Amino acid sequence: MKQPALTPMSLTAILGRIATEWESRSRVFDLPSARIWKLDPDVDLSFDFVGRRAATPIGPAAGPHTQLAQNIVLAWLGGARLFELKTVQILDDLDIGRPCIDTETIGYNIEWSQELEVTQSIDEYVKAWMIIEILKRWEPLAESLGPDTGPHIFDMSVGYDLAGISSAKVVHFIETMMDASERIDALRAEIPAPFGEFRDLEFPSQIARTLTLSTMHGCPPDEIDGIVRYLMDDHGLDVIVKLNPTLLGYDGVDALLHETLGYDDITLSRDTFDDDLQFDRAVQLITHLRSHADSAGRRFGIKLTNTLEVVNVKQWMPEDRMYLSGPPLHVLASSILDRLVDALPGVFAVPGQGGTSPVTFSAGVTRPNIADTIAMGVGPATMSTDLLKSGGYGRLKPMLKALATEVLESGEQTLDAWRTSRFEQAVADGYRDSIQAHVAAITGEGSDLYTREGNAKLPRRNDKTLQMWGCTACNLCVTVCPNGAFMKLPSPEHLAGEIGGRWQYLVLAELCNECGNCMVFCPEEGDPARIKPKLFLDESRFAGAEGQAFRLVPKGDEFTIVSADGWESQQETLGAVIAGDQGVPLRSGDF
Ligand SMILES: Cc1cc2nc3c(=O)[nH]c(=O)nc-3n(C[C@H](O)[C@H](O)[C@H](O)COP(=O)(O)O)c2cc1C
Ligand code: SF4
Ligand code: SF4
Repeated sequence: MKQPALTPMSLTAILGRIATEWESRSRVFDLPSARIWKLDPDVDLSFDFVGRRAATPIGPAAGPHTQLAQNIVLAWLGGARLFELKTVQILDDLDIGRPCIDTETIGYNIEWSQELEVTQSIDEYVKAWMIIEILKRWEPLAESLGPDTGPHIFDMSVGYDLAGISSAKVVHFIETMMDASERIDALRAEIPAPFGEFRDLEFPSQIARTLTLSTMHGCPPDEIDGIVRYLMDDHGLDVIVKLNPTLLGYDGVDALLHETLGYDDITLSRDTFDDDLQFDRAVQLITHLRSHADSAGRRFGIKLTNTLEVVNVKQWMPEDRMYLSGPPLHVLASSILDRLVDALPGVFAVPGQGGTSPVTFSAGVTRPNIADTIAMGVGPATMSTDLLKSGGYGRLKPMLKALATEVLESGEQTLDAWRTSRFEQAVADGYRDSIQAHVAAITGEGSDLYTREGNAKLPRRNDKTLQMWGCTACNLCVTVCPNGAFMKLPSPEHLAGEIGGRWQYLVLAELCNECGNCMVFCPEEGDPARIKPKLFLDESRFAGAEGQAFRLVPKGDEFTIVSADGWESQQETLGAVIAGDQGVPLRSGDF
């Protein structure tokens, strides 16, 4: 059986949901108003990204949080201002094994590429771009967002070889991101009331002008070189190359992961390292591509790092290999940066080096380490694993608060000035810079943020078996879902005793790719994405559905319900749950 794909919501449906949900419960895709970030006029957290400023130095990394339009919008509401769009590649009808995300302790995944067709990805990014412009100006959100939301940047990501990247399909993607005016104009008509006043808005037509190249584990250096030159020369792009943690070599990674951090449950495979870019060759490649960028009038930077390929000993997900992310990757990526700065003095745009090549960073960034990460001089710091944990997009605002507090407590008011003072402090403490100081701190005694022991705590479990109605109501399935697929609706008063509890949880099946993340966190025994009522809007998707599936059929101002065979007895209850002011926040007229 083909695994379920995602069916993105239309621009009309997303905006309609935002309007309904905000009006009825001051939430957006269940993100509460208290988790919306507001720019603090007392502290400037903006940073320079390849010649443009973004209001904050954090955002979602290329991955599950930048695939669908609402994901990007939720991250923006949370305070992200740099978005690494999910990698687009020529093979756009892949079957990805399920489950594909395991964040029980650190992070593992097998979700190595986009799950949408390239044309769908284009539309998701254009829709997100337009919705952000609309929400910036939408009066009901004005108090939560404040008068100035600050600039944001979308950064493209493509993979994985030159043939694919120079294909008509991927070229169309790149060209549309650089000038999306046609798609924007086509989508204007989909802007529904009460956003009608924005139909004629001047949306900036250039969605992205930088690109991060995601290289497949094992991509030969000459191929990377050819792709970067092609992107710079033929498309006029500034390019960042995302490097792999294998740069540290088998022995280097083995020593850090196993000896320093104690991950004796992680099995490395030598072939992963042998096939990948080696450190000395990477140094040559960076030098060469910088000089090419100079002659082409472009900028070249690096990103640390991609995930680490390891043996899938756990077998909770299918496949032989899986990709490690989260806390231990932070130590590997920081150590690589330290080595690269030593090997390439004066090259990188980090304090003390005076170079021009930016370093972007995605590796186990969390609230406790955001300040130390940014102090190294990297920007942005983006994350996947942390946003897959309890609280989801709501974790961004506390992260920014932690960073702002550090800056203000140091007596500075801007991120740039604070970084300089952190650099001076590191030098005074005997280090080359804040990078070296950070690596010493995270590989030294007493830092259990990164060790196996410090990350051994499992999600809470109880002895209940998950049922379709009623549950522990911990809300975790809502917050850990990157796609906003879960909804929390109050139990109708007259049914509360019968179906159990104050809240009911339902899944919008077309936004669920069965990644498994809600199952990891649900304290009860069972998979929420399969056991809770699955709502469909698309007739053909519903026709192929299994289990407790229900189709919402728009009829006038309401939805009527069609049940999958065998689930008719639940139809009346579902009707009561989705009806009413706090019911399903979808407008039938939008479908
Ligand atoms: C589920 C999942 C999917 C990912 N998909 C992509 C991708 O499509 N392209 C890419 O370059 N990196 C991808 N990544 C890697 C992230 O962009 C990021 O570099 C990595 O996870 C390290 O950051 P973290 O420790 O914050 O998760 C993915 C990561 C995860 C967890
Ligand atoms: S509902 Fe669960 S399985 Fe589905 S996408 Fe969300 S987290 Fe993944
Ligand atoms: S389904 Fe599970 S994760 Fe979701 S609210 Fe209920 S108990 Fe929590």
